[in-house]
Amino acid sequence: MNTQSKESGSTDTPAASDAIALLKADHRAVEKLFDAFEKAADDDLEAKGTLARRACEELTVHAIIEEELLYPAAHKALEKQDEIDVDEAYVEHYLVKTLIEKFDSLRPGDDGFDATFKVMSELVKHHVEEEEAELFPELRESGVDLVALGVKLAARKNELMNKLDAAGSKLVGDRSLSFIRAA
Ligand SMILES: [Fe+2]
Ligand SMILES: [Fe+2]
Repeated sequence: MNTQSKESGSTDTPAASDAIALLKADHRAVEKLFDAFEKAADDDLEAKGTLARRACEELTVHAIIEEELLYPAAHKALEKQDEIDVDEAYVEHYLVKTLIEKFDSLRPGDDGFDATFKVMSELVKHHVEEEEAELFPELRESGVDLVALGVKLAARKNELMNKLDAAGSKLVGDRSLSFIRAA
């Protein structure tokens, strides 16, 4: 069949999307991966491995763009009493990234693989709840230009995703994430 490849870079800058819409879309995408992992059959190691890898990739890129662009903007724009929410977010990212690093050596079927994934997903869900209930609304009220910030986030995300692809992406578990972390 001559299916035209119409994708390559299909996640380009979403039109009329602001920073918060973009980040929320990332959150929903990763939650889908968490759900799929939970539904995977216990012995479907291939599915679990793929889902964990995808989740680690998505989360790593998401954390980088938030830490490089969103959190500094929030720190600057928020009222003094709300800055604690940004500080907490950094600490939660640190914990999530520590668990992501464990997947550098864990393989599906290993002791601790499922447990690590579960704890990681619980941490992320908690973190996402806090961002969406507190940090994002505060940011929206702060008057920051969320559309301009969204453009920057989308561009940086694209760049990181391309780097992952170029690195052969689907090889988390070896070194693609430490590679991207150093980007
Ligand atoms: Fe975050
Ligand atoms: Fe987030």
